Amino acid sequence: VDPEVKALRELYAEATKLYHHLLVNTASGEKALTYLTSRGLDEKTIDAFMLGYAPEGNILYDYFQTQKVDYQLLRKSELFVEWSDGSLHDRFTNRVLFTIRDSTGHPIAFSGRKLTQNDDEPKYINSPESLLFNKSAELFNLDLAKDTIKKQKHVILFEGFMDVIAAFQAGIQNGVASMGTSLTTEQVQRLSRMSDGISISYDSDMAGQKATKRALDLITQQGRLSAQIIHIPDNQDPDEYLRSNDATAFNQVLVHNVEDPVTFNLRYLQIDRNLNNQTEMFAYISDALTVIATVKEPVIREQFLRQLANEFDLSYDALQDQIRPLLLQKQ
Ligand code: UTP
Ligand code: MN
Ligand code: MN
Ligand code: MN
Ligand code: MN
Repeated sequence: VDPEVKALRELYAEATKLYHHLLVNTASGEKALTYLTSRGLDEKTIDAFMLGYAPEGNILYDYFQTQKVDYQLLRKSELFVEWSDGSLHDRFTNRVLFTIRDSTGHPIAFSGRKLTQNDDEPKYINSPESLLFNKSAELFNLDLAKDTIKKQKHVILFEGFMDVIAAFQAGIQNGVASMGTSLTTEQVQRLSRMSDGISISYDSDMAGQKATKRALDLITQQGRLSAQIIHIPDNQDPDEYLRSNDATAFNQVLVHNVEDPVTFNLRYLQIDRNLNNQTEMFAYISDALTVIATVKEPVIREQFLRQLANEFDLSYDALQDQIRPLLLQKQ
Protein backbone atom coordinates (compact mmCIF):
# COMPACT_ATOMS: atom_id res chain seq x y z
CA VAL A 1 0.00 0.00 0.00
CA ASP A 2 1.00 3.57 -0.70
CA PRO A 3 2.64 4.98 2.48
CA GLU A 4 0.35 7.99 2.47
CA VAL A 5 -2.73 5.78 2.27
CA LYS A 6 -1.33 3.72 5.12
CA ALA A 7 -0.79 6.83 7.24
CA LEU A 8 -4.29 8.12 6.51
CA ARG A 9 -5.79 4.77 7.43
CA GLU A 10 -4.03 4.94 10.77
CA LEU A 11 -5.34 8.45 11.30
CA TYR A 12 -8.91 7.35 10.60
CA ALA A 13 -8.53 4.32 12.86
CA GLU A 14 -7.34 6.63 15.67
CA ALA A 15 -10.12 9.15 15.03
CA THR A 16 -12.74 6.40 15.04
CA LYS A 17 -11.43 5.06 18.34
CA LEU A 18 -11.39 8.52 19.93
CA TYR A 19 -14.90 9.44 18.77
CA HIS A 20 -16.25 6.06 19.90
CA HIS A 21 -14.59 6.47 23.30
CA LEU A 22 -16.11 9.95 23.68
CA LEU A 23 -19.54 8.52 22.89
CA VAL A 24 -19.57 5.55 25.19
CA ASN A 25 -17.24 6.46 28.06
CA THR A 26 -17.42 10.21 28.67
CA ALA A 27 -19.87 12.73 30.04
CA SER A 28 -19.57 14.82 26.88
CA GLY A 29 -21.02 11.92 24.89
CA GLU A 30 -23.97 11.29 27.16
CA LYS A 31 -26.50 13.25 25.13
CA ALA A 32 -25.43 11.52 21.93
CA LEU A 33 -25.53 8.09 23.54
CA THR A 34 -29.01 8.77 24.86
CA TYR A 35 -30.00 9.91 21.39
CA LEU A 36 -28.81 6.64 19.84
CA THR A 37 -30.34 4.39 22.49
CA SER A 38 -33.62 6.28 22.24
CA ARG A 39 -33.52 5.42 18.55
CA GLY A 40 -33.41 1.77 19.57
CA LEU A 41 -29.74 0.93 19.10
CA ASP A 42 -28.13 -1.38 21.65
CA GLU A 43 -24.53 -1.41 22.86
CA LYS A 44 -23.52 -4.28 20.60
CA THR A 45 -24.76 -2.42 17.54
CA ILE A 46 -23.11 0.84 18.61
CA ASP A 47 -19.83 -1.07 18.88
CA ALA A 48 -20.22 -3.09 15.68
CA PHE A 49 -20.82 0.08 13.67
CA MET A 50 -18.09 2.02 15.48
CA LEU A 51 -20.51 4.86 16.16
CA GLY A 52 -19.04 7.94 17.76
CA TYR A 53 -19.56 11.42 19.03
CA ALA A 54 -17.72 14.59 18.02
CA PRO A 55 -18.07 17.21 20.76
CA GLU A 56 -17.86 20.98 20.41
CA GLY A 57 -14.33 22.33 19.94
CA ASN A 58 -11.17 20.95 18.40
CA ILE A 59 -10.72 17.75 20.28
CA LEU A 60 -9.47 15.70 17.32
CA TYR A 61 -7.02 18.36 16.20
CA ASP A 62 -5.65 18.73 19.73
CA TYR A 63 -5.32 14.97 20.04
CA PHE A 64 -3.28 14.67 16.84
CA GLN A 65 -1.16 17.65 17.95
CA THR A 66 -0.11 15.76 21.08
CA GLN A 67 1.02 12.98 18.73
CA LYS A 68 2.87 15.48 16.54
CA VAL A 69 1.11 14.33 13.35
CA ASP A 70 2.37 16.08 10.22
CA TYR A 71 0.32 19.13 9.12
CA GLN A 72 0.15 18.07 5.46
CA LEU A 73 -1.18 14.66 6.46
CA LEU A 74 -3.83 16.25 8.65
CA ARG A 75 -4.83 18.47 5.73
CA LYS A 76 -5.15 15.55 3.35
CA SER A 77 -7.22 13.56 5.81
CA GLU A 78 -10.23 15.88 5.29
CA LEU A 79 -11.01 15.38 8.96
CA PHE A 80 -10.57 19.13 9.33
CA VAL A 81 -11.71 22.28 7.63
CA GLU A 82 -8.99 24.70 6.67
CA TRP A 83 -9.46 28.36 7.44
CA SER A 84 -8.06 31.04 5.14
CA ASP A 85 -5.09 31.48 7.48
CA GLY A 86 -4.22 27.81 6.94
CA SER A 87 -5.27 26.71 10.40
CA LEU A 88 -7.15 23.44 10.75
CA HIS A 89 -10.37 22.92 12.71
CA ASP A 90 -12.40 19.82 13.46
CA ARG A 91 -14.87 19.26 10.63
CA PHE A 92 -17.32 17.41 12.87
CA THR A 93 -18.57 19.10 16.03
CA ASN A 94 -21.54 18.35 18.21
CA ARG A 95 -22.69 15.48 16.02
CA VAL A 96 -23.26 11.76 16.27
CA LEU A 97 -20.83 10.05 13.93
CA PHE A 98 -21.49 7.23 11.53
CA THR A 99 -18.21 5.67 10.50
CA ILE A 100 -17.99 4.86 6.82
CA ARG A 101 -15.79 1.83 6.23
CA ASP A 102 -14.36 0.46 3.00
CA SER A 103 -15.13 -3.10 1.92
CA THR A 104 -12.26 -4.44 4.03
CA GLY A 105 -13.49 -2.67 7.15
CA HIS A 106 -11.08 0.28 7.33
CA PRO A 107 -12.70 3.55 8.42
CA ILE A 108 -12.35 5.99 5.50
CA ALA A 109 -14.88 8.74 6.18
CA PHE A 110 -17.54 9.96 8.60
CA SER A 111 -21.04 11.26 8.41
CA GLY A 112 -22.17 13.41 11.32
CA ARG A 113 -25.81 13.76 12.31
CA LYS A 114 -27.10 16.67 14.31
CA LEU A 115 -28.81 15.75 17.56
CA THR A 116 -31.60 18.26 17.52
CA GLN A 117 -34.20 19.41 15.07
CA ASN A 118 -32.99 22.78 13.77
CA ASP A 119 -33.56 23.87 10.22
CA ASP A 120 -30.53 26.08 9.73
CA GLU A 121 -28.02 23.23 9.60
CA PRO A 122 -28.01 20.18 7.33
CA LYS A 123 -29.12 16.96 9.06
CA TYR A 124 -26.01 15.09 7.98
CA ILE A 125 -22.55 16.43 7.18
CA ASN A 126 -20.36 14.07 5.19
CA SER A 127 -16.62 13.80 4.69
CA PRO A 128 -15.61 15.05 1.27
CA GLU A 129 -13.68 12.73 -1.02
CA SER A 130 -10.10 12.00 -0.08
CA LEU A 131 -7.30 9.63 -0.96
CA LEU A 132 -9.23 7.01 1.03
CA PHE A 133 -12.80 7.91 0.18
CA ASN A 134 -14.11 7.59 -3.34
CA LYS A 135 -17.78 8.45 -2.82
CA SER A 136 -19.10 6.97 -6.02
CA ALA A 137 -17.51 3.58 -5.38
CA GLU A 138 -18.26 3.01 -1.70
CA LEU A 139 -21.41 1.57 -0.19
CA PHE A 140 -22.15 1.90 3.50
CA ASN A 141 -21.76 -1.44 5.34
CA LEU A 142 -20.45 -3.49 2.41
CA ASP A 143 -17.68 -4.88 4.66
CA LEU A 144 -20.09 -6.38 7.22
CA ALA A 145 -22.68 -7.39 4.62
CA LYS A 146 -20.57 -8.94 1.90
CA ASP A 147 -20.39 -12.51 3.27
CA THR A 148 -24.16 -12.66 3.72
CA ILE A 149 -24.72 -11.10 0.29
CA LYS A 150 -22.50 -13.73 -1.32
CA LYS A 151 -24.17 -16.55 0.56
CA GLN A 152 -27.72 -15.41 -0.14
CA LYS A 153 -26.87 -14.06 -3.59
CA HIS A 154 -29.07 -11.17 -2.58
CA VAL A 155 -28.50 -7.62 -1.40
CA ILE A 156 -30.87 -5.05 0.07
CA LEU A 157 -30.24 -1.47 -0.92
CA PHE A 158 -31.29 1.19 1.60
CA GLU A 159 -31.17 4.97 1.51
CA GLY A 160 -29.68 5.80 4.87
CA PHE A 161 -27.30 4.76 7.62
CA MET A 162 -30.03 4.19 10.19
CA ASP A 163 -31.98 1.94 7.82
CA VAL A 164 -28.97 -0.35 7.37
CA ILE A 165 -28.14 -0.33 11.08
CA ALA A 166 -31.70 -0.96 12.27
CA ALA A 167 -32.05 -3.82 9.78
CA PHE A 168 -28.71 -5.26 10.87
CA GLN A 169 -29.75 -5.20 14.51
CA ALA A 170 -32.96 -6.98 13.52
CA GLY A 171 -30.90 -9.77 11.93
CA ILE A 172 -31.03 -8.63 8.33
CA GLN A 173 -27.35 -8.53 7.50
CA ASN A 174 -27.24 -8.14 3.73
CA GLY A 175 -28.11 -4.45 3.70
CA VAL A 176 -26.02 -1.62 2.28
CA ALA A 177 -26.77 2.05 1.65
CA SER A 178 -26.03 4.43 -1.14
CA MET A 179 -25.88 7.21 1.50
CA GLY A 180 -28.37 9.64 0.02
CA THR A 181 -26.55 10.26 -3.23
CA SER A 182 -27.69 8.68 -6.48
CA LEU A 183 -26.56 5.12 -7.01
CA THR A 184 -23.63 4.88 -9.43
CA THR A 185 -22.62 2.41 -12.15
CA GLU A 186 -19.55 1.56 -10.11
CA GLN A 187 -21.63 0.65 -7.07
CA VAL A 188 -23.97 -1.50 -9.16
CA GLN A 189 -20.99 -3.25 -10.71
CA ARG A 190 -19.53 -4.05 -7.30
CA LEU A 191 -22.82 -5.48 -6.10
CA SER A 192 -23.39 -7.52 -9.24
CA ARG A 193 -20.04 -9.24 -8.69
CA MET A 194 -21.28 -10.72 -5.42
CA SER A 195 -25.03 -10.96 -5.89
CA ASP A 196 -27.70 -12.14 -8.33
CA GLY A 197 -30.62 -10.19 -6.89
CA ILE A 198 -31.21 -6.80 -5.37
CA SER A 199 -34.11 -5.41 -3.36
CA ILE A 200 -34.41 -1.66 -3.48
CA SER A 201 -35.81 -0.57 -0.13
CA TYR A 202 -35.77 3.20 -0.20
CA ASP A 203 -38.01 5.56 1.77
CA SER A 204 -41.66 5.56 0.77
CA ASP A 205 -41.77 9.36 0.49
CA MET A 206 -41.63 11.07 -2.92
CA ALA A 207 -37.87 11.66 -2.74
CA GLY A 208 -37.40 7.96 -2.06
CA GLN A 209 -39.64 6.95 -4.95
CA LYS A 210 -37.74 9.21 -7.35
CA ALA A 211 -34.46 7.77 -6.15
CA THR A 212 -35.89 4.27 -6.60
CA LYS A 213 -36.75 5.07 -10.21
CA ARG A 214 -33.22 6.30 -10.90
CA ALA A 215 -31.62 3.30 -9.18
CA LEU A 216 -33.89 0.86 -10.97
CA ASP A 217 -33.13 2.37 -14.39
CA LEU A 218 -29.40 2.11 -13.70
CA ILE A 219 -29.63 -1.50 -12.52
CA THR A 220 -31.80 -2.46 -15.50
CA GLN A 221 -29.41 -0.76 -17.89
CA GLN A 222 -26.47 -2.64 -16.42
CA GLY A 223 -28.53 -5.80 -16.76
CA ARG A 224 -26.76 -8.16 -14.37
CA LEU A 225 -28.85 -7.94 -11.21
CA SER A 226 -32.46 -8.99 -11.03
CA ALA A 227 -34.23 -6.20 -9.20
CA GLN A 228 -37.31 -5.96 -7.06
CA ILE A 229 -38.78 -3.00 -5.23
CA ILE A 230 -39.79 -3.11 -1.58
CA HIS A 231 -42.70 -0.98 -0.52
CA ILE A 232 -42.46 0.20 3.10
CA PRO A 233 -45.99 0.77 4.43
CA ASP A 234 -47.37 3.93 6.06
CA ASN A 235 -45.08 6.41 4.34
CA GLN A 236 -42.19 5.36 6.57
CA ASP A 237 -38.56 4.62 5.98
CA PRO A 238 -37.24 1.15 6.89
CA ASP A 239 -35.80 2.36 10.20
CA GLU A 240 -39.09 3.95 11.24
CA TYR A 241 -40.94 0.82 10.24
CA LEU A 242 -38.58 -1.34 12.30
CA ARG A 243 -39.09 0.94 15.31
CA SER A 244 -42.87 0.60 15.27
CA ASN A 245 -42.95 -3.03 14.19
CA ASP A 246 -40.69 -6.01 14.78
CA ALA A 247 -38.14 -7.94 12.75
CA THR A 248 -40.73 -10.56 11.81
CA ALA A 249 -43.03 -7.89 10.40
CA PHE A 250 -40.18 -6.35 8.44
CA ASN A 251 -39.23 -9.74 7.03
CA GLN A 252 -42.85 -10.12 5.94
CA VAL A 253 -42.60 -6.76 4.16
CA LEU A 254 -39.43 -7.92 2.42
CA VAL A 255 -41.23 -11.01 1.13
CA HIS A 256 -44.73 -9.70 0.48
CA ASN A 257 -44.55 -5.96 -0.21
CA VAL A 258 -42.55 -6.57 -3.33
CA GLU A 259 -43.01 -5.18 -6.80
CA ASP A 260 -41.37 -6.30 -10.02
CA PRO A 261 -39.73 -3.51 -12.05
CA VAL A 262 -42.54 -3.32 -14.62
CA THR A 263 -45.23 -2.96 -11.97
CA PHE A 264 -43.17 -0.30 -10.23
CA ASN A 265 -42.64 1.61 -13.47
CA LEU A 266 -46.34 1.45 -14.34
CA ARG A 267 -47.30 2.74 -10.90
CA TYR A 268 -44.59 5.41 -11.09
CA LEU A 269 -46.06 6.63 -14.39
CA GLN A 270 -49.38 7.21 -12.66
CA ILE A 271 -47.96 9.58 -10.04
CA ASP A 272 -49.12 13.17 -10.57
CA ARG A 273 -51.39 12.16 -13.42
CA ASN A 274 -55.13 12.64 -13.41
CA LEU A 275 -56.28 9.45 -15.10
CA ASN A 276 -59.90 10.62 -15.15
CA ASN A 277 -58.84 13.17 -17.70
CA GLN A 278 -58.99 11.48 -21.11
CA THR A 279 -55.93 13.19 -22.58
CA GLU A 280 -53.81 12.28 -19.58
CA MET A 281 -55.21 8.76 -19.58
CA PHE A 282 -54.23 8.21 -23.23
CA ALA A 283 -50.78 9.64 -22.54
CA TYR A 284 -50.45 7.17 -19.67
CA ILE A 285 -51.54 4.25 -21.87
CA SER A 286 -48.97 5.22 -24.45
CA ASP A 287 -46.18 5.43 -21.84
CA ALA A 288 -47.35 2.24 -20.19
CA LEU A 289 -47.11 0.37 -23.49
CA THR A 290 -43.51 1.55 -23.84
CA VAL A 291 -42.78 -0.01 -20.46
CA ILE A 292 -44.63 -3.23 -21.23
CA ALA A 293 -42.81 -3.50 -24.56
CA THR A 294 -39.55 -3.98 -22.62
CA VAL A 295 -40.81 -7.32 -21.30
CA LYS A 296 -39.11 -10.06 -23.29
CA GLU A 297 -41.36 -13.00 -22.41
CA PRO A 298 -44.57 -12.95 -24.51
CA VAL A 299 -46.58 -14.69 -21.78
CA ILE A 300 -45.67 -12.09 -19.15
CA ARG A 301 -46.19 -9.27 -21.63
CA GLU A 302 -49.67 -10.57 -22.30
CA GLN A 303 -50.38 -10.55 -18.56
CA PHE A 304 -49.51 -6.86 -18.28
CA LEU A 305 -51.52 -6.02 -21.39
CA ARG A 306 -54.59 -7.80 -20.01
CA GLN A 307 -54.15 -5.98 -16.72
CA LEU A 308 -53.98 -2.65 -18.51
CA ALA A 309 -57.04 -3.51 -20.58
CA ASN A 310 -59.00 -4.36 -17.43
CA GLU A 311 -57.85 -1.31 -15.52
CA PHE A 312 -59.10 1.15 -18.15
CA ASP A 313 -61.81 -0.98 -19.70
CA LEU A 314 -60.05 -1.14 -23.07
CA SER A 315 -60.02 -3.94 -25.59
CA TYR A 316 -57.04 -6.27 -25.48
CA ASP A 317 -56.91 -6.27 -29.28
CA ALA A 318 -56.54 -2.50 -29.47
CA LEU A 319 -53.68 -2.58 -26.96
CA GLN A 320 -52.02 -5.35 -28.94
CA ASP A 321 -52.32 -3.31 -32.13
CA GLN A 322 -50.79 -0.32 -30.39
CA ILE A 323 -47.85 -2.18 -28.85
CA ARG A 324 -46.89 -4.06 -32.04
CA PRO A 325 -44.85 -1.27 -33.65
CA LEU A 326 -42.99 -0.79 -30.36
CA LEU A 327 -42.05 -4.45 -30.34
CA LEU A 328 -40.87 -4.35 -33.97
CA GLN A 329 -38.63 -1.36 -33.17
CA LYS A 330 -36.80 -3.48 -30.61
CA GLN A 331 -35.82 -6.27 -33.00
P1 UTP B 1 -32.99 10.78 4.92
O1 UTP B 1 -33.41 12.19 4.95
O2 UTP B 1 -33.97 9.74 4.53
O3 UTP B 1 -32.36 10.51 6.34
O4 UTP B 1 -31.71 10.69 3.99
P2 UTP B 1 -32.43 9.20 7.26
O5 UTP B 1 -31.41 8.21 6.77
O6 UTP B 1 -33.83 8.73 7.38
O7 UTP B 1 -31.89 9.84 8.61
P3 UTP B 1 -32.56 9.89 10.04
O8 UTP B 1 -33.34 8.65 10.23
O9 UTP B 1 -33.39 11.13 10.10
O10 UTP B 1 -31.37 9.97 10.94
C1 UTP B 1 -31.16 9.44 3.59
C2 UTP B 1 -29.65 9.53 3.58
O11 UTP B 1 -29.24 10.66 2.80
C3 UTP B 1 -28.06 11.22 3.31
C4 UTP B 1 -27.67 10.37 4.50
O12 UTP B 1 -26.77 9.35 4.07
C5 UTP B 1 -28.99 9.76 4.93
O13 UTP B 1 -28.83 8.57 5.68
N1 UTP B 1 -28.25 12.63 3.72
C6 UTP B 1 -29.47 13.07 4.18
C7 UTP B 1 -27.18 13.49 3.66
O14 UTP B 1 -26.08 13.10 3.25
N2 UTP B 1 -27.35 14.79 4.10
C8 UTP B 1 -28.55 15.25 4.59
O15 UTP B 1 -28.63 16.43 5.01
C9 UTP B 1 -29.63 14.38 4.61
MN1 MN C 1 -17.04 -0.08 22.58
MN1 MN D 1 -35.18 9.85 2.65
MN1 MN E 1 -34.99 8.11 5.63
MN1 MN F 1 -34.79 7.70 9.00
